[in-house]
Amino acid sequence: MPPLSNSIPKTKLVRVPLELNQQTVAKALAEALADVNAANTFAELKTLKSSLVGESSQLAQLNALIRDLPAEQKAEAGKLVGQARAELNQVFAKREAELEALALEQQLQSESVDLTASPKVLRQGARHPLSLLMDQISDVFVGMGWEIADGPELENEWFNFDALNFHPDHPARAMQDTFFVAPVENHLLLRTHTSPVQVRSMLERDLPLYVLCPGRVFRTDELDATHTPVFHQVEGLAVDKGLTMADLKGTLEHFARVMFGPEAKIRLRPSFFPFTEPSAELDVWHPGAKGGPRWVEWGGCGMVNPNVLLAAGIDPEIYSGFAFGMGIERTLMFRNGVRDMHDMVEADVRFSQQFGSVI
Ligand code: DAH
Repeated sequence: MPPLSNSIPKTKLVRVPLELNQQTVAKALAEALADVNAANTFAELKTLKSSLVGESSQLAQLNALIRDLPAEQKAEAGKLVGQARAELNQVFAKREAELEALALEQQLQSESVDLTASPKVLRQGARHPLSLLMDQISDVFVGMGWEIADGPELENEWFNFDALNFHPDHPARAMQDTFFVAPVENHLLLRTHTSPVQVRSMLERDLPLYVLCPGRVFRTDELDATHTPVFHQVEGLAVDKGLTMADLKGTLEHFARVMFGPEAKIRLRPSFFPFTEPSAELDVWHPGAKGGPRWVEWGGCGMVNPNVLLAAGIDPEIYSGFAFGMGIERTLMFRNGVRDMHDMVEADVRFSQQFGSVI
């Protein structure tokens, strides 16, 4: 057997040699009682148990001293220590029961559920009405077999202006209307309309072509009640053999009825756009307009200018096309009676919620 050199001799565990008399017993009892009363929780009392009432407690150690007393003193000493231990055990057990009951009560309270409490209401979000409107418009055209197209917001000047037959001196190209991206020699800009997608679609897709492009556009306008530098448009383009203005008118009439009700009608007024010839302003008869039915300016349209078809490599002798474009913000304003552009750009969920929580 290896030497127990590391084990602590048992005698060292015994504290200062105790003397067994009335004072030492009373003091040990008083200290133990004070400790019991000082314990505030069941867990705390439990950790004290062995040092207060176990074999290592002061009273137990005093008790052990009885063994060494002369025989005639043993009975009295036994009674003295025994009474003290009995009293301590009793107080300990009582405190233990109290704290245990308290712990249980606290646990029950922390786990309790108030079935009468009103539930926390989580506010539901809502999609922005501009997104909803763009989706509704897309649905109308997808329903007619059209495709949805898109193009970059950071656009090349050629797509935004040149290919659309804008003269090099056209005022729309001026810096005060268009956000050009430095360095200017790169000819990059934030698209000022969705019309460049017309050219991209014609270059990318096969004919015949029926595409709709909702998207974001940019102009150097200050934000006010009716303007915003970032807004949305929807562009339509059809290129096929034998398309005429009658096809354009029929398409727009259907579109207007879905958007504004069966009594809606459209009116085309002669106008000018570089990329259409002839061109027209599109008005819609809005039966549900605030303040009564009336004509409202809605957008622009026309037959695709042959120069635009040529820029996209399409023979205008074989194909013809029609196009139209309108503002989404403007449409939302007169369709739903939104008066101030700020409501549309501020993204306050209370504004969006009025249009329903469609997903
Ligand atoms: N791009 C024009 C604008 O921003 C709107 C427009 C007019 C689009 C006539 C068209 C069109 O496709 O045919 O004001």
